[in-house]
Amino acid sequence: MTRALITGGNRGIGYATAEGLIARGVEVVIGVRDAQAGAAVAAALGCDWVHLDLEQPETFVPAITAAGEIDILINNAGILIEDSMITHPDGLRRSMQVMFHAPFELIVLCLPHMTRAGAGRIINVSSGWGAFDEGLEGPGGYGVAKAALNALSHALPRDLPHGVTINAMCPGWVHTRMGGRAAPRTPAEGADTAIWLALDVPAGTTGKFYRDRQEKAW
Ligand SMILES: NC(=O)c1ccc[n+]([C@@H]2O[C@H](COP(=O)([O-])OP(=O)(O)OC[C@H]3O[C@@H](n4cnc5c(N)ncnc54)[C@H](OP(=O)(O)O)[C@@H]3O)[C@@H](O)[C@H]2O)c1
Repeated sequence: MTRALITGGNRGIGYATAEGLIARGVEVVIGVRDAQAGAAVAAALGCDWVHLDLEQPETFVPAITAAGEIDILINNAGILIEDSMITHPDGLRRSMQVMFHAPFELIVLCLPHMTRAGAGRIINVSSGWGAFDEGLEGPGGYGVAKAALNALSHALPRDLPHGVTINAMCPGWVHTRMGGRAAPRTPAEGADTAIWLALDVPAGTTGKFYRDRQEKAW
């Protein structure tokens, strides 16, 4: 049985990704900050949950240990802090922690099993706002952190073991707490490319950036 860990799986695009993977027969574990609320969401979804706060690195090892042998890691959790990096430098630090440092640490922690299995898929939920090709438009520290996540997704294949792949994707503008009510896409539409990368992309595809299942420029 294939097992997937989704950070921020309790709502938004992460929740829709969990639903989609469960419907395809994948065993899902959602990483949640609020254990009580997360347990209720997991029960409704029919999946497991672990306590995982990406701003609290001490939660990483216990979470990955409890999650079991993870074949698919979806680094989905994100924060959007729009304040100036100069007047609110902590916003950049927090953005980098949640959307760059923590995803990297989780990758490292998931690798022993993926290496033994000779297979593993890492999907980084990024954004066009972190793409130089689209003008790096993300406000505050958001675009910088997503650009760093993109750079990691592009560069890491050279250091990953055979059979383990990593790709980034942009979900588009999605109606979630982050995306807001005006966003045209549903969470399920936003999750589609992440699910496709997790299960359907041709084997060996790695180091690439996608939106709507199409490769896009960094
Ligand atoms: N929505 C869009 O239009 C859009 C566009 C491009 C990219 N994205 C990306 O898509 C991903 C999902 O976004 P979304 O729209 O679904 O956002 P969302 O509805 O705001 O959900 C964000 C998720 O991240 C979790 N999270 C935030 N900080 C965390 C932390 N320190 N530790 C663990 N979990 C944390 C939240 O958990 P809590 O419930 O505990 O807060 C929540 O589950 C993000 O990476 C975002 O940057 C979204």
